[in-house]
Amino acid sequence: MRENNITWHPSHISREDRCRLNRHNSCVLWLTGLSGSGKSTLAYAIDKELFGLGCRSYVLDGDNVRHGLNRNLGFSPEDRKENIRRIAETAKLFVDAGLVAVTAFISPYRADRDMARSIFREEDFIEIYVKCALSECERRDPKGLYKKAKAGEILEFTGISAPYEPPVRPELVIESDRQTVNESVGQILHYLLHRRHLFQPVSE
Ligand code: ADX
Repeated sequence: MRENNITWHPSHISREDRCRLNRHNSCVLWLTGLSGSGKSTLAYAIDKELFGLGCRSYVLDGDNVRHGLNRNLGFSPEDRKENIRRIAETAKLFVDAGLVAVTAFISPYRADRDMARSIFREEDFIEIYVKCALSECERRDPKGLYKKAKAGEILEFTGISAPYEPPVRPELVIESDRQTVNESVGQILHYLLHRRHLFQPVSE
């Protein structure tokens, strides 16, 4: 803890004000799943769909964020924890800014996802398990990383030489090896519109 001599400065504009201007509520859609399970594909597809509905959203994607904000982090359990902490804090700023933040990170450790969840209001954090058999992820291997990991060229690779702990009670499960991207987008949208009331009037 190094937070000495710093003070929280309140904004003149509340999250509710921003959501009213946007005409929708904000939240985080936290996608988790193996590499190659389809998190990024789904994240960008839901982002596009939300944009079409006039909804302000933004994707935070593992590979992209590791090019910039988190370029100094690797894949040890400690670095993955810090990766998730920074993303969760960033997503929290987005939610405060009135946006729908869509995050696409393996986030393999339950404790790290729970830590991320704990910094949001209960209704703001929607954990979406992008479930896909490891054998199918290995078959897809879009970046050739499973092949390298199995050859011992990448260490601590999730699913091969590092663990993936599936969510226990995610808000949604997407079976990406059994349904199309369109079906998955529809499932998430249905949930947002009917269970989370994305467009319900924002309270004063
Ligand atoms: S996380 O575990 O910290 O949440 P994150 O989603 O940011 O991971 O990054 C995962 C991406 O980094 C993978 O899709 C893959 O392209 C790449 N990657 C490189 N090395 C590894 C590794 N050892 N384990 C998992 N992914 C890796």
